[in-house]
Amino acid sequence: MALEQRPVGKLDRAVIFLGPPGSGKGTQAKVLAEKYGVPHLSTGDMLREHIAQGSLLGLKAKPIMARGELVPDSLVLKMVAERIERPDCSHGFVFDGFPRTVTQAKYLGELLKRQGFKQPFVIHMVIGNALLLRRLTGRRTCKIGGEIYNIYDRPPKVEGICDNDGGELVQRPDDREEVIKQRLHAYEKLTSPLVAYYRRHGWLHEIDASKSVAEVEQEIEQAVASMRGAR
Ligand code: AP5
Repeated sequence: MALEQRPVGKLDRAVIFLGPPGSGKGTQAKVLAEKYGVPHLSTGDMLREHIAQGSLLGLKAKPIMARGELVPDSLVLKMVAERIERPDCSHGFVFDGFPRTVTQAKYLGELLKRQGFKQPFVIHMVIGNALLLRRLTGRRTCKIGGEIYNIYDRPPKVEGICDNDGGELVQRPDDREEVIKQRLHAYEKLTSPLVAYYRRHGWLHEIDASKSVAEVEQEIEQAVASMRGAR
């Protein structure tokens, strides 16, 4: 392993990215997970994989996700529990898009306790709605490696082609304006109560997600370093 790819230290817990659609959770969670050499667990990506494979879970999730609604807790919780029991999660992991309801957060709390993890560290991506539409309608994702681009702010060198692996860049079906509206509504109604929930526990760290990708990355790095120093 090259020196620059070595993990910067141990995480030993769950880091949770909490924020509205388009706030940059996926972009930053991927970087943080790579830095610490732990899995990046995006429940959205997991569900999209189930859809691509045509599994029973995928068949149930597909129409719900197409409408921009949340997949029922019962389906998501089973999928997450199975994933974090795998050995690669033993030194911690980075959640992107989970938990998304208070029920999911409570269930996760129990799972983490049972597996001997410390309390999670929650990164709240704070951003106004005005920027979200531009970010979501402009997003393109690599079909091969999942690298995230934006046609306005983070374009690839060659239009439609991933810089890393030459994969085709595609638009997510739920990134159409009418579905985005429903996703933002679901966030406000079902997910935003988690901000108060985690704040009460003292596990919430707020990040200004409206800044550039590099600036947000730096803020997160500092927050995680201070969390590790404080334990
Ligand atoms: P999911 O895939 O989790 O989507 P989401 O939460 O709606 O979040 P996004 O992936 O759209 O945005 P992001 O915050 O990751 O932003 P990104 O980094 O890509 O969920 C999809 C669906 O699956 C849900 O609607 C639901 O149906 C279902 N689901 C998933 N998890 C579930 C759960 N736990 N329970 C129930 N249902 C669940 O960035 C967006 C764009 O902005 C990119 O183009 C990027 O390049 C750009 N960008 C990022 N950061 C910056 C920056 N700082 N400056 C400028 N541009 C930036």
